[in-house]
Amino acid sequence: MIGNMKNLTIDPERLWDELMETAQIGATPKGGICRLTLTELDRQVRDWFKAHCEGLGCTVTVDDMGTMFARRPGQRSDVPPIAMGSHLDTQPTGGKFDGALGVLAALEALRTLTLAGYETFAPIEVVNWTNEEGARFAPALIASGVFAGVFARDWAAARADRSGETFADALETIGYRGPEPCGQHKLSAFFEVHIEQGPYLEAEGKDIGVVTGVQAMRWYEVTVTGQDTHAGTTPMARRHDALLGAARLVETVNASARKSASAVGTVGLLEVKPGAPNVVPGEVFFMIDMRDPDPAVLDRMESEIAQAAKKLEAELGLAIALKNIWTQPPQAFDPDCIAAVRAAAKVSGYSTRDMISGAGHDAAYVARVAPASMIFVPCKDGISHNEAEYSSKEQCAAGAQVLLQAVLDYDRQLAERYG
Ligand code: GLV
Ligand code: MN
Ligand code: MN
Repeated sequence: MIGNMKNLTIDPERLWDELMETAQIGATPKGGICRLTLTELDRQVRDWFKAHCEGLGCTVTVDDMGTMFARRPGQRSDVPPIAMGSHLDTQPTGGKFDGALGVLAALEALRTLTLAGYETFAPIEVVNWTNEEGARFAPALIASGVFAGVFARDWAAARADRSGETFADALETIGYRGPEPCGQHKLSAFFEVHIEQGPYLEAEGKDIGVVTGVQAMRWYEVTVTGQDTHAGTTPMARRHDALLGAARLVETVNASARKSASAVGTVGLLEVKPGAPNVVPGEVFFMIDMRDPDPAVLDRMESEIAQAAKKLEAELGLAIALKNIWTQPPQAFDPDCIAAVRAAAKVSGYSTRDMISGAGHDAAYVARVAPASMIFVPCKDGISHNEAEYSSKEQCAAGAQVLLQAVLDYDRQLAERYG
């Protein structure tokens, strides 16, 4: 018998305790987490997640991109699961909530069902996607991208970190390459809770962001090649300074983004070679991240950056290779999933605001192959990708409660649809 969904309430303390407990795995002195994907610390948090899911009677399967699926059976094993989750990897100076909240809120929602003995129509799953952040292996969202058929599996497996280690080797090393081919795991729907990572919910005093889509984003790898020469003896006019070229391009990225009110452009990774104070740099590698809801704005930025690079090549005697490695179009979420989130917030007594996500999320790729949407909760001062990132116990609990209600609402709809 499908139970009475109104009686189901997640436990804020349990969720908070698990957020703080897992935050110890890779804890940084400033109160954040450094748990880069497919490292030993990632293995530890995966082991924790697996043990806790199995402790709740779930079956945990892993696909060949390392994504973990913990399943709680429903009435109908022939119906694909309703999944919820996020990621357990972090940025190098990540906070305690980006990703972890989505996985642990999902775990708490599932635990609430189990402790209540509530039988759903469809199976329910908690998912931990691999390499959401893209901090170690570019681009971000690699596993959900393969899951959605956007990236070829072999291309993704061969992505290398800055030390040259491949995704496939790192996955093998931590023992999380599963047998299930990535993308074969059918889902009835996917819901992801996340901190907003921006300022709007807090500024407007809203409890829940009903996320209607994710903006477009692109990543580029740039290699600027000049000439290593002696810093003391090479006259300024004779230099081919790769860092000077890179610095001017960084300015261009910034200026180009500022021309549109909604656009953002960032250079967050830059490597200078050979890296000595008395050598004019002969090579610089850096990456550009740019985003806007409108891909035409990104086309404009791309062409301005390419033109600036051409000009700098001639002016400074450099070779500049600009390579687009990731293009994600804007992604709208599923109207039924969005409606389920809105209804769930209402039934739980929370105020809402519709919003487009500025950050990338696995839900955006999953949305290409299954109905999906997201639930945002406020975070302090809109700060994220920072060790100080913070959402309160109550804010985290609100996200988990809305997640649970949205999943149950969707489950009821599925039961009606299948008849
Ligand atoms: C994911 O963290 C992103 O870069 O938006
Ligand atoms: Mn995230
Ligand atoms: Mn992130």
